Parts: sequence; structure tokens; C-alpha cells
Amino acid sequence: MSYRLDLKTGYPSTAIAPLDRLSVIAAEVIVSGRGFQYGGDLRGHEGARAQIARYLTEVMSIPVETSHLILTTGALTAIDIVCRTLTDPGDLVVVEDPTFFFAVDLLRMSRAQVVGVPMLVDGLDLDALDRLIAANPGRVKLVYTIPSFHNPTGYTMSDVKRAALVKMALEHNFYILEDATYEPLYFGAPPPPPLKTYDAGQGRVIVVASMSKVLMPSLRLGWIWANPAQMSAFLRNKSDAASSRLTAEILTDFMSDGHFMDQITRVREVYARKHDALVATLRANAPEWLSWHAPGGGFFIWATLPETIAAQAVIERAHEREVDVFSGRASYVSPLDDRSLRLCFALLDEAALCEAGQTLCEVITEIGSKSLGARTDETRQQRRGPRCEG
Ligand SMILES: Cc1ncc(COP(=O)(O)O)c(C=O)c1O
Repeated sequence: MSYRLDLKTGYPSTAIAPLDRLSVIAAEVIVSGRGFQYGGDLRGHEGARAQIARYLTEVMSIPVETSHLILTTGALTAIDIVCRTLTDPGDLVVVEDPTFFFAVDLLRMSRAQVVGVPMLVDGLDLDALDRLIAANPGRVKLVYTIPSFHNPTGYTMSDVKRAALVKMALEHNFYILEDATYEPLYFGAPPPPPLKTYDAGQGRVIVVASMSKVLMPSLRLGWIWANPAQMSAFLRNKSDAASSRLTAEILTDFMSDGHFMDQITRVREVYARKHDALVATLRANAPEWLSWHAPGGGFFIWATLPETIAAQAVIERAHEREVDVFSGRASYVSPLDDRSLRLCFALLDEAALCEAGQTLCEVITEIGSKSLGARTDETRQQRRGPRCEG
């Protein structure tokens, strides 16, 4: 069932894609035959890896070598390869709880046991992780984390926690799978340096990301960024051969004019406007008892309802008014309750975000006024002036 106003789906906006230029390049790559053949080198197209290495060096602020990259069919395949390589069936793989639901399915495919550790506003709860490690000596092999603009919460791990998590990995001999999908998408201050900065070349942190959120998801072009010594192990588990030669050729041509950072700047501007539209709408319309915060990057705003209100009730009522929103519960490995909603601001345009946000706030206020007694937000509504600022 689809609804007119989609805050649910975590997809990028077509507004970010330079379609004219991409279509000219794609036509040339196909007609010339350059994109026709299998890829050969399992690490993927060398030109594309060189361009991505240059881009990552700029955006992650640490040097990245072409030889440290393996191209994959999106970040999802990268997650699968890393997990299958670094874990044995029955090992514990720790995820932030909640986390990106699709990654959990992939991690389980390697027959590792996926365990959730609570996600806090400043990142993974490291005390809880410490307790888990102490209770299961030697069993935690991998921690999967989305440190910047996390899916689904939008939270960003603090600098201190990044350093502390890597220190724990070195002490307790586990790997960190750093999903940097949303890393470049900051709208104000950049997030703290990637976790990989802290492992001092020791190979405890493996980074995955892709072109999906900054150029075009259907390119299915992602990567693993690891240490040279780890390459052959990852390549042994590479099930997508050399990944697509066609998209690698297109990407290489697109990036080779040296202006890819202009694309990133444009993408940030597009998503920042959307972010600001939804944030302004929530500021103006959300009841005071709804807990949420502006992420300042990425795709998602996480909203938490009071204990007496079920997210499912909000979702059902929102559907009646043509708004769709993602149940936070679906992102938990061990859901405790049903109080959270994930709002994606990437897909809709600003006017639709404003309408969707306002309608959702009305639904939440209406349900809240019944279940919280007569505690409606009338005074606040009167104070506000325009109800849709986006
Ligand atoms: C955290 C995270 N990692 C990976 C992906 C998927 O990336 P890709 O399209 O590169 O497979 C997504 C979103 O779809 C995501 O939210």
C-alpha cells in the first residue's frame, strides 16, 4: 500500500542526480563497448577505485589508497562480504539497537548471532558493550556501527566514543565495521573523524559506503576500504565477481573532471533544505511531549512518543490521512516497546515535507490528547503563528 506523503522510505531524492550529464556519459560508455565486458580484476575497475580513493581522502580527511579499496555492488554487498569474512557461525556480531534493519538480515546470513546494544544520543552504549564482552569472553567478533547520522536515529557518535570504541576493539580483539553511508551528508558542522582514523593502520576498522546517497542508488556502486593485508580474505568471499563494469566506467568518467566535490556540495544543499523544512515544521507543530532532535545531516529524524502512545496507532491514523512513516520498532533487534517513529526527509520535496510533517503532528497531538488526558497543546499552537514554516 502506498500513501501520497512518504516519510517512510529511506530513499535518496532524484533531485540530487545530474541526469543530463550521466546520460551522455552512459550512452558513450555503452556505444563504445567500454562497459560491455565482465570486470576482470575482483577488486573492481582501477580507474573507479582511484577516483573514489581521491574523493574519500577529501571527504574523510585521511589518506585513502586505491589499493585499499574493493568495489562492491552497493554498501549492502560490502557488509555481507566483511561479515562473512570476519566471523564464523555462532560468533557474536554487535549492532546498535536500533539499527539499519536490512543490515541485520545480511549479518544473520553469515550465521553469526546478532546482538543489539542500546543506541544513545552520542552513539553506542559502550558500558553495555563492555558488559556484553565480559559476559561472553572471546565471542564478540564484529561491531557494526553507523557512526554518523545513524539509520534510523540520525544520531552521531561523539569523538570520545569513537576513540574509546576503537580502543576496545584493539584490547578485546574484535573488528569494527564502520558504515559511512551518511558521513558526507552534513549540513552544518562535519561529524567527528571516522573511526578508522583511530586504529592507526592496525586493520581493526573496515569502512563500507557507496555512491547511493550522493549520486545514484541504481549504480549499485559501493566499496570496502580495508588494509592491504586483509584484501585477499575479502576477495575470497566476493560473490559479485568484479561488480558492474558498466557503472564503474560511468562513474570514472563522471568523476574524472575533478569536480566531484561540487556534486557533494550540491547534494548537501538539497538535503539541507529538506532537513530544514521538516525540522521547522516539527518545531512549529509537534507537541512538547514528543521527543525528537534535528540531526544536522543524513536522512532521518527519530521521534519518541510518551509511554502511553503506541507508534502503531499513530501510523494507522496517519495512513488515513495519506502520510506514511516508518515504525521505529522494525529497526530493533530486541524491541522493548513501540514508541518510536523514523521520519525520512530525503525523498519528498519541501512543500510535501511540510504538509506531511504538519499532518503527522496533528495525528500525534490528537492521539496524545486522548491518551494523555486533556493535555493538548493549544497554548503552544496559539503562540506559534504560521503552522507550516517549511
Ligand atoms: C546505513 C546504511 N547502509 C547501507 C545502505 C544501503 O547502501 P547501498 O545502496 O550502497 O547498498 C543504507 C540505505 O539504504 C543505509 O541506510
